[in-house]
Order: sequence, then structure tokens, then C-alpha cells
Amino acid sequence: MSLPRPTVPGLRPPEPPLRDGDVLLRLWRPSDAEAVAAACQDPEIQRWIPVPAPYGLADAADFIEEAERSWRAGTRAGFAIVHAGSDDLLGAIGLGPGREGRAWSVGYWIAPQARRLGIAARAVRLVSRWAFDEVGIDRLELMTLLDNEASQGVARRAGFHREGVLRAFFDLRGQPQDVVLFSLLADDPAGPVGHATSAADPAGPAAPGGHVPVATTPRRLVAPGTVGAPFVDLLAADDLPPGSLRRVSRGDLDVLLAHTPAGIVATDDRCPHMAAPLSLGTLEGCTVDCPLHRGRFDLCSGETVRMPTTGGLDADGTYHPGWSPAGSVPRPEPPSSKQEARRLTRVRRLRYYPVRVREGRIEVALPPA
Ligand code: FES
Repeated sequence: MSLPRPTVPGLRPPEPPLRDGDVLLRLWRPSDAEAVAAACQDPEIQRWIPVPAPYGLADAADFIEEAERSWRAGTRAGFAIVHAGSDDLLGAIGLGPGREGRAWSVGYWIAPQARRLGIAARAVRLVSRWAFDEVGIDRLELMTLLDNEASQGVARRAGFHREGVLRAFFDLRGQPQDVVLFSLLADDPAGPVGHATSAADPAGPAAPGGHVPVATTPRRLVAPGTVGAPFVDLLAADDLPPGSLRRVSRGDLDVLLAHTPAGIVATDDRCPHMAAPLSLGTLEGCTVDCPLHRGRFDLCSGETVRMPTTGGLDADGTYHPGWSPAGSVPRPEPPSSKQEARRLTRVRRLRYYPVRVREGRIEVALPPA
């Protein structure tokens, strides 16, 4: 028998609404149902979260009504995560008291098109601070399924501490699942936690007016034409929280800004292999995964960590054969000019644009147009 959810008398939505740059948390509206239903078709959401499958418009309407009821009853605070400018739905986040004990728990999902932009960690940080500072809780828990490494990265980037694995704790469509328990206490220091991103790490949070570090990158890898070039204002430091990647375009130049554990780096938003946007990849520590051929690149050193699946030449001109991701069937190709092109494609080292942070703004020295 499940216990009724505890209520929080006087639970009120934050006013003004919680916001971090272009990420805004607002109350749900009935008109969000279509976007919710579209997002929840996503196999990744259905894989990790016990949403109805298949997920229809009526399910989305129920979800929104339940969120409204929970606010009124004081049992849970649910928010739509939207783009502050366009009001496009980016995801959902909700938190409230657990069924027992005094801790609150937080859960979220992010729409497929809004992933890998650091939005989940920003939303979790926003609701955490609100719950600690305004509601007055002192412990917030976050659970993810054991295999959901992306969500565990979000927890670490939001400053949560990993406490351990709860075996067969959760029931997902009739199957017992192991979960990883994370927690954040009201007086924990802000900032990411983990192997390369400890709370004491110099990267720290991109707090308004606070110190935002810039990474020291190899001098030999400075981008041509940038020595002595004027610095250009590209982004508010608050809009690049630790662990996030952003593309900022100036003319025909697409710049990748990354907030790594070593600090902020700026390089081209073009994979050093075949120019795919690295901003669509995943950042773990200093390493970004390219979404196109699974190459991995160290944004702090400029080196290739893993060659692309196509193989090819590394920066020193050494040939590496292609490879297949675990579990996929290798597809040998007959000799062709396409295969030859892949074989002779050289994966270059990254080149860096000088970065500085002035009055909370990230400025980058760009070569003259
Ligand atoms: S384009 Fe990035 S690994 Fe191929």
C-alpha cells in the first residue's frame, strides 16, 4: 500500500518565475498538451520514465491537470521548462516531499530537441535554490535508473552528491530497477560534483558577478588571426553554466563555447573530423562526443580522445581503421572513392579563440571578417 503524499501548507509558485538566462520555469497551461504529447513520444523518455506508452494527447492533458491539482493540494511543485523568448517547451521538472521522511525529491525530462544544452542541470539548480531558500527544505533527492548515465551527469552538474545504489528499488512497467540516489543539502556548496568537476574545482558556478574561470589552452593551438584581435561580446556567463556547450554565430563563424572543469574555452563549432556541430554533442568533463561519427575530443588539450567510427588519419598523419559501436554489426564497404576519402580524412587538433570574462560577459577574440 502506498502512503499518501505529505502536503506543504502554503506551497506557492515562485514570483517572479524562476529563470536562468533563456531557461524559464513557468506553470503548466492546458495549451501545453500538444507539446507534451509530442515530447513524450520520444523513446528515451519512455525508456527511463514510467510515462504511458503509447503516449497520447489525453495523457498529456491528464499530466497537466495533475500538476495543477498538486499545486493546489500542496503536494508537488511542477513546472514547464520553456524558452524564455519563444515559450517553446523544453521539458518538465517537478519536486515535492517524498512519501516518507523530510526530504524532497526532484524529477524531470527534457524534450529531444532541447537535449545536450545543459538545460536540465540549469532547471535542477533553479528549483533546488528555490526549495532551499524559499520553501525552507534542507534535503533534496534525485534518483536515476542505474543505466541512465546522462541523467547522472545532470545530477553531478547540478551539484548533487552520489550516495549509492538502491537495488530493485523502482518498478518500471513491472520490472524492478536499480536506481542511483543523489542528494543535495541546503548548505552544500554550489557547483558541479564529481571526478573531474568537484565542488572545489576552479570551474565553480557561473554565478552572477562571481569569478568565472577561463581555461588555459595550449599556446600552439591558438586560432590563426586572433593574436591582437579585438574581443567581441558573445554571451552572458550565466548562460553558460558548468558542463554546458553553446553555439554562438558571428557572420559565417560558428563559435563553440564550453564550460569545462578547467574553465571556459572557445573553439570552432565544427568537429575536427568532418565539421559536424560539436555543440550538439555531450560534454563530460573536458571531453565532448561528436554526434556524427562518435569521435571524442578533449576541449582542454585539443587532442583526439577517440577516433571517429570511420577511422582515418590522426593529427600526426597516422592511419586508424574504422570501428563499430558495441552491439552494432560492422558494415564492410567495398573499395570506393568514398571509402578512400574517409581513409585520408585527417582529424585535426582543435584551435582556440582567446577568451576573457568582463562584468559577467564572455568575450572572445575573433579574427577579422
Ligand atoms: S564529424 Fe565528428 S566524428 Fe565525424
